[in-house]
Amino acid sequence: MTTPDDIATAAALILQGGLVAFPTETVYGLGADATQDHAVAKIYAAKGRPQFNPLIAHVEDVEAAFALGEFSADALKLAARFWPGPLTLVVPRRVDCKVSLLASAGLPSVALRVPAHPIALELIRAVGRPVVAPSANPSGRISPTTAEHVRAGLKLDMILDGGACAVGVESTVVSFMDRPRLLRPGGLARDVIEDALGFGLAEADAGGALYSPGQLESHYAPHAAMRLNAEARLEGELYLGFGPYKSTYTLSQSGDVVEAAANLFRMLHELDNRNPSHIAVAPIPNIGLGEAINDRLKRAAAPR
Ligand code: TXA
Ligand code: MG
Repeated sequence: MTTPDDIATAAALILQGGLVAFPTETVYGLGADATQDHAVAKIYAAKGRPQFNPLIAHVEDVEAAFALGEFSADALKLAARFWPGPLTLVVPRRVDCKVSLLASAGLPSVALRVPAHPIALELIRAVGRPVVAPSANPSGRISPTTAEHVRAGLKLDMILDGGACAVGVESTVVSFMDRPRLLRPGGLARDVIEDALGFGLAEADAGGALYSPGQLESHYAPHAAMRLNAEARLEGELYLGFGPYKSTYTLSQSGDVVEAAANLFRMLHELDNRNPSHIAVAPIPNIGLGEAINDRLKRAAAPR
């Protein structure tokens, strides 16, 4: 699949200001040198992404993150506990932060993550700089969990193939810009984070400000219209099952939300590729990773 030569080629492309898609444990990322404004701008262009949506800088370890952001004791606790892993921390930019201001979309903060995937980590080390990477899909479309998904959506110089992503939904985003706040539910469940902190996370919409500008209402959208919490398939619909709600496509036969997260985007891609007018989805319990799954489904179903 991916050889050391591929990693070296990919790193050289990125240092030259190019874009390379690479696997992480959550979804495939579209990577660029975080320190080059022009390379960051190319990401927005490739994705057709609204300029106000800031990007995550991926680094190889906690030390590298410290060089870019200011970590409070609580932020440090989460970094030490959950990195590498599906958690992104939004912290104040250090004055000498090398991440392009464009990647922060004009905010005084920077989003940082150490991904838990050998190819991602080798790539970041080979580049020797932080790598910004949004999910490698056209803006507003379903996130890619295989190299084929990336290829189907974007024309790129290079895609590093690491097979299917183990987690399958994007990282959980927690902001430390005021009090610890859950900006986006994701691959690390809220209760696991709250247990580590010893207190609850504030909500993204509390306080009235738009804390995570990337949280557009319609996002992750298949071409088909979506019907959620569907206990059965209606005429003309393709049905995505879960647990007791059976279908040819079932997120998890046993009703396991972790397995369902890993299958979510791949199955949405597969169903959507059959060009139905509607996709109906079984109810998913809002427990553990179920919160991230329901968040993505709600966005996929939002009016557009
Ligand atoms: O799992 C993931 O996080 C994947 C892989 C590739 O690492 N990446 C990903 O990136 O999902 P993207 O660009 O699709 O989503 C980044 C999220 C958005 O919701 C964005 O608004 C938020 O992180 N974000 C980034 N920087 C931020 C900042 N400075 N302040 C608030 N939110 C920020
Ligand atoms: Mg995305």
